[in-house]
Amino acid sequence: MAAKMACAKSAQATFVFVVATGMLFEGVFEVNKLVIDGGIPLSGEIAVHGAKNSSLPLLAATILSGGECVLHNCPALSDVDAACKILSYLGCGIRREGSTVTVNTENLSHFDVPDDLMQEMRSSIVFLGAIAARLGRVRISFPGGCDLGARPIDLHLSALRQLGLDIREEHGYLNCVSDGRLKGSNISLSFPSVGATENIILAAATARGQTVINNAAQEPEIVDLAEFLNRCGAKIYGAGKSRIWIDGVETLYGSEHKVIPDRIVAVTYLCCAAVTGGEVQLLHTRPDDIGSVLPVLEEMGCMIRCSDDTIFLKAPKRLNGGGTIRTMPYPGFPTDAQAPLMALSTLSDSTTVFVENIFENRFRHAGELIRMGANIRTEGKIAVVQGVPSLYGASVQATDLRGGAALIIAGLAAQGKTIISNMCHVQRGYEDIEGNLKAMGAQVYWTD
Ligand code: EPZ
Repeated sequence: MAAKMACAKSAQATFVFVVATGMLFEGVFEVNKLVIDGGIPLSGEIAVHGAKNSSLPLLAATILSGGECVLHNCPALSDVDAACKILSYLGCGIRREGSTVTVNTENLSHFDVPDDLMQEMRSSIVFLGAIAARLGRVRISFPGGCDLGARPIDLHLSALRQLGLDIREEHGYLNCVSDGRLKGSNISLSFPSVGATENIILAAATARGQTVINNAAQEPEIVDLAEFLNRCGAKIYGAGKSRIWIDGVETLYGSEHKVIPDRIVAVTYLCCAAVTGGEVQLLHTRPDDIGSVLPVLEEMGCMIRCSDDTIFLKAPKRLNGGGTIRTMPYPGFPTDAQAPLMALSTLSDSTTVFVENIFENRFRHAGELIRMGANIRTEGKIAVVQGVPSLYGASVQATDLRGGAALIIAGLAAQGKTIISNMCHVQRGYEDIEGNLKAMGAQVYWTD
């Protein structure tokens, strides 16, 4: 119930925002249920939209430029909507025209992010480094945990303190202040945290002196952020490797940038085709970004052909198991692909073992898949999936973004009707999920 209420609140907040600011968003993100009549082999072509997990730090990075930035291929997602609401609250001008979002941060006036906006999207923590660097002062509420676990931010705070930000944790708020420009530092991360790496880059780009990040996250989204900031005049070297150098500059300028394609959305649609014994051609994607996932799909029996920006997959009638899948920091198997692959493995001819090494509570979708007839046993960070002959449609609840995607994948293959509630989780990361599934021949529709 709480999740449903949260969803409803978020949709209402979004609606108010759109009306209040007259922004030209393409429609308000509705909260309802998705109904899937399963058992149809899918076949079609999907253009993969821009990456949510790149758009969010890029939107935060616009704060550093003090001018106008244009982000192309920016997906229409509720999480991106939430980031735009934060920028608008801070005093930035924002407009969306199709997949292009233009941000003008010249009149940035606020240094605080309201609680409701912080709670709407816990990855708002990535605004901390950017606001601190631009204004020297930040006040945000401590982002809560989420469906995946405690989601601590100790690595973020420790690194920003090393850069000279005085951070006081008071009654659930982070009150931060720096005396003048932040100062470069040599920072070693105990874990290659994506968000912490992004926050350090955002804070260090205009700091005084050089910052080195040791054991940095190497995800493609980190590279995308560095490329955008370098286009704005930053001096960031080594992004995509485990050591990043940042020579702080005094000023950054507005620039244009095209957001990279969403690699997890690509994996999800590949799984939608694979689970139904169908086929799919993905366009505007980057096969190398999912280089650790494609071999697993081939091991499960799928035929895969790639070009620079397309992936074609043709699935067998019956899949093999996926072996043992261990989630790891990039370039290892991505934790965000664990739930989609688990859904896929429920209908294979053997056993697949998942080892979730990144988040402490990322098997919540297993219970919902079991309601559909899956044979899954979880113990701590291990999940053992024994393939079953078929799944059955059921009423299930999306537990989180990728867990919801897993239920869609399972529903497409299940016999009968599947009704998925709490779809607001899925709308955080999948643009026009209904339209894309219909383009592949799926029988899906929204209902209240
Ligand atoms: C980013 O989250 C992504 N989100 C996640 O995608 C993704 O699963 C994750 O990276 C790993 O790839 C966005 O980019 C918006 P982390 P983030 O910091 O930055 C622990 C999705 O589905 N940790 O790399 O929060 C943390 O608890 C989302 O699109 C600390 O202990 O991930 C987790 O166990 C889900 N202290 C691990 O590190 C910290 O200060 C990985 O977290 C920070 C993190």
